[in-house]
Amino acid sequence: MLNSFQTSGNSPGPERCRVGILGFGTVGSALARRLTGPRSIPSLELSHICDRRARDKRARQPQPIAELAWTDRFDDLLAADVDVIVEAVGGAEPAVEYVRGALLAGKSVVTSNKLVIAHQGPALLGLAERQGRQLRYEAAVGGAMPIVRALGDGLAGEQVTRIDAILNGTTNAVLSRMDADLCSIDEAVADACARGYAEADPSADLDGVDAAAKLCILCMIGFGLRVQPAQIDTRTSARILPEDFRKAGLRGGTIRQLAHAEYDRDRSTLVAWVAPTFVRGDSVFARATGPENAAVITGAFAGRITMTGAGAGGDATAVAAIGDLIAIARDRAAIVPVPVLTEPETIKGLTDLKLAEAV
Ligand SMILES: NC(=O)c1ccc[n+]([C@@H]2O[C@H](COP(=O)([O-])OP(=O)(O)OC[C@H]3O[C@@H](n4cnc5c(N)ncnc54)[C@H](OP(=O)(O)O)[C@@H]3O)[C@@H](O)[C@H]2O)c1
Repeated sequence: MLNSFQTSGNSPGPERCRVGILGFGTVGSALARRLTGPRSIPSLELSHICDRRARDKRARQPQPIAELAWTDRFDDLLAADVDVIVEAVGGAEPAVEYVRGALLAGKSVVTSNKLVIAHQGPALLGLAERQGRQLRYEAAVGGAMPIVRALGDGLAGEQVTRIDAILNGTTNAVLSRMDADLCSIDEAVADACARGYAEADPSADLDGVDAAAKLCILCMIGFGLRVQPAQIDTRTSARILPEDFRKAGLRGGTIRQLAHAEYDRDRSTLVAWVAPTFVRGDSVFARATGPENAAVITGAFAGRITMTGAGAGGDATAVAAIGDLIAIARDRAAIVPVPVLTEPETIKGLTDLKLAEAV
């Protein structure tokens, strides 16, 4: 007979980790709903929301979100008794300063912002370490596809040599729609907007700027390299025509926006680009449709590791942010107040010595 096991889910521990959300948009609001809904996480307690239009947004929220502490001042969030701040405002500034300020105030930080990590990741991660806090950013790359943790933890024993990935859900939604219907790019963009996969101006997505920032982060984790987004060669997907898909189909494949990075450690050379690329019809990339992301990570020892998953959307991205929050909640040292170290006046030993006598 098999033993049966009963699990109680995450242990809430003696105290719950208190969370404040900064930016109540697509990601921030989806996260708030998860953390306060019927399938909330026992170890996490959402207590504060900071948004520049806090008053308006709060008025439109149902309970229990409306009864949380809301503010439109970041300083209020810093002064609040939250352990972790989730940065979900987007853009490089003032988000970088918010993340820095939160770490300096002794908070751990979860960010979904690729620009913050691509531009200032190493400096902010260094600051987090010095502060004894955590800075986590799974949601910044790949949406719910857990590529940050896979590269940084799961494949820490690998020597990663190459990364090929679809990292922009908007562009993938547009190109896969053109692929399926042989429609114009304008029609495909309109369809992606209507489904909530694209903003009115998706140029940063189609031009490869968004994927380039994410690729920088993967180069940092996978290769240990500091690469700036401007150093990544990008080619736009905005000029792809239905005819290009017809030709790709005749060759047995299709077109996707790929981010590619290959690092030759012996020669110390990195090749990195984002571009619309021919992919074989039987590849993981051709099968990624709508806002899906996909990645193939190649290593010297384990060969190819493949992953796919929802690359965008509030609920999917909230999954990644919650994973980071749970990891922080498990690390009590990252949320309890930093101990104040004081110099002892005497050293307790066989005999009590004055500190000055002991050294
Ligand atoms: N959406 C996705 O599918 C997705 C997926 C992965 C990662 N991300 C990343 O997640 C972050 C947030 O994306 P999002 O789609 O949630 O953006 P969003 O819908 O525009 O939400 C951002 C929110 O922050 C507020 N805000 C902006 N600046 C602020 C400031 N200085 N102080 C306080 N609040 C401020 C905005 O207020 P207003 O309403 O006034 O604009 C808005 O409510 C971005 O870095 C994005 O790249 C998003």
